[in-house]
Amino acid sequence: MTEMPSIRQTMLVGRHRLANLGDQAMHECLILLQSITQKTKAKLLAFDEELLTVEQYQHFIQLVERRAAGEPSAYIIEEKEFWSLPLKVTADVLIPRGDTELLVETALTVLANKQQPKILDLGTGSGCIALALASELPQAQITACDRSPACLSIAHENAKNLGLNNISWHESDWFSALPVRPYDLIVSNPPYIAVDDPNLAASVAEYEPIHALIAQDQGLADLNKIIQRAGDYLLDTGHLILEHGWQQATQVQSALQQQGFNAIETRTDLQGHERVSMAQYDPQTR
Ligand SMILES: C[S@@+](CC[C@H](N)C(=O)[O-])C[C@H]1O[C@@H](n2cnc3c(N)ncnc32)[C@H](O)[C@@H]1O
Repeated sequence: MTEMPSIRQTMLVGRHRLANLGDQAMHECLILLQSITQKTKAKLLAFDEELLTVEQYQHFIQLVERRAAGEPSAYIIEEKEFWSLPLKVTADVLIPRGDTELLVETALTVLANKQQPKILDLGTGSGCIALALASELPQAQITACDRSPACLSIAHENAKNLGLNNISWHESDWFSALPVRPYDLIVSNPPYIAVDDPNLAASVAEYEPIHALIAQDQGLADLNKIIQRAGDYLLDTGHLILEHGWQQATQVQSALQQQGFNAIETRTDLQGHERVSMAQYDPQTR
């Protein structure tokens, strides 16, 4: 194209190219155009007769081709919103999922009456859970860890961009390199997909970091490691909240019970799947 194309024409070209995404195509095109024009979605839609430069149009076509090849939009534009916070994401970190906001909501309920809670986020990835909690609880002292230095670097950058400085970041294989300090709350969204899970979407397996997704023992190995050690790092009556696979609630509940947790409760995600389990530590029953 050598003439200046309008936003409307450009959107039509993009939607046509991404037609296999169905209703999602329009949303994806808007995300890509937003990142190129720095206009809000509302402005792009309300003033769609406005013209783009040829460079902007060509850039859009390049991004649409990447999306058509299967790359997630969040990696293409290097951004994903979580808990209304704009987070940088690269292929080193898992793209934060809407379902994980349930874990944040549950954590805020548990901490409702704590003045200066001490929180530990295991396997922080982009930092999404720790950052969401830090944004809601400025008085909290948050520790976050990941085994991957690349993840920690992104998480740290996100904290800096958001001006959230009540989090300390640690490179650690779960608890191994963490300061032994009793926490009011431990949260984690660990890898929980079984190695041979047929439901693991090809696009996820191809683009997202495998170390963030897969766990041994039908996906339960990391959940079990965390449950086994969490009591040593929790205050008496402290809480543990875990995200897990939608068919893993029973095994997670039973592991929690065996390790001295009670008040075990599982919550369902937006699709009605059992997704997050919470429990309270009681050393007397361990
Ligand atoms: C499912 S991702 C979750 C990331 C982020 N918390 C979120 O909710 O989007 C799991 C994270 O755990 C980290 N991880 C995997 N094994 C680990 C281990 N042994 N110790 C610490 N972190 C680990 C991965 O690098 C990854 O960032």
